[in-house]
Amino acid sequence: MSRFDLVGETPLVRLRRVVEPLPAGVELWAKIEAANPGGSVKDRAAKAILRDRIERGIPAGARLLDSSSGNTGIAYGSFCAELGIPLTLVLPANANKERKRILQAYGVELILSDPLEGSDGAIRTAKALASAEPDRWVYLDQYSNPANPHAHELGTAVEIWRQTGGRVTHWVAGLGTTGTFVGTTRGLRARNAGLHAVAVQPAGPFHGLEGLKHLPSAIAPAIWDPRTVDGYLWAPTEESLELRQRLGREEGLLVGPSSGAALWGALQVARGLESGVVVTLFPDGGERYVSEEHLWD
Ligand SMILES: Cc1ncc(COP(=O)(O)O)c(C=O)c1O
Repeated sequence: MSRFDLVGETPLVRLRRVVEPLPAGVELWAKIEAANPGGSVKDRAAKAILRDRIERGIPAGARLLDSSSGNTGIAYGSFCAELGIPLTLVLPANANKERKRILQAYGVELILSDPLEGSDGAIRTAKALASAEPDRWVYLDQYSNPANPHAHELGTAVEIWRQTGGRVTHWVAGLGTTGTFVGTTRGLRARNAGLHAVAVQPAGPFHGLEGLKHLPSAIAPAIWDPRTVDGYLWAPTEESLELRQRLGREEGLLVGPSSGAALWGALQVARGLESGVVVTLFPDGGERYVSEEHLWD
């Protein structure tokens, strides 16, 4: 069995305490992506991107290259180690200790980009490397690669549809590369044209919501498709982090900061309904953030 076979089919759990008070006819469910073998939702995109690339062939002597704020790199890293494919990753220099250590453990070559430029700086560095030496690198480009949203259209959406018995009425998720939101929305809409899809972004350009992008001030990913969106919500960092902590204490769910933002958005939607089944997605687990003191006080 390959590690690819363990990706997806993550649990969908109903939140009961942290959502109080909600109208009686409203349910809120969350997809727990930490259950993937690499510990995050990005296993789905990484698997699809690598599979597609392997099918098209990797030239002898070339290295795979991409930029990531961490989770995609970790997903690529474990798969590439198993497959024996060399991988170089551009990561913002201020990525936390856990991320760097895990990537080192998988033997990934790291190039650290300007911390002040965040994930956009990592994208620019990877692009510059790929265009300077096109024969040396196979640039995977998760921000432009259609295999990223496809993984969610054919995977995440199908699972949510089955796990809710086709009852999902509202879908709320954060935007990073936008693969999760765009792909899952397409897959759910194909099954329920009336699905209401709400995209969550950080309230401003400087935020502590790792993995999420504030698109008005960032490089817009080529896979981004605003036609999939029914509504936008702008998550405040502090309230999102508070909700993240409550998920541990009240629901027994240890998750990362972007899950707090997803819950914040899902609650805004759920509180405005009389009835409905609201589904959101928690992209990763909390263990990957243990060294970030401000998250635990
Ligand atoms: C922790 C975390 N949350 C959210 C996201 C956003 O997911 P997507 O890139 O599919 O939009 C990512 C993506 O890297 C992530 O690592």
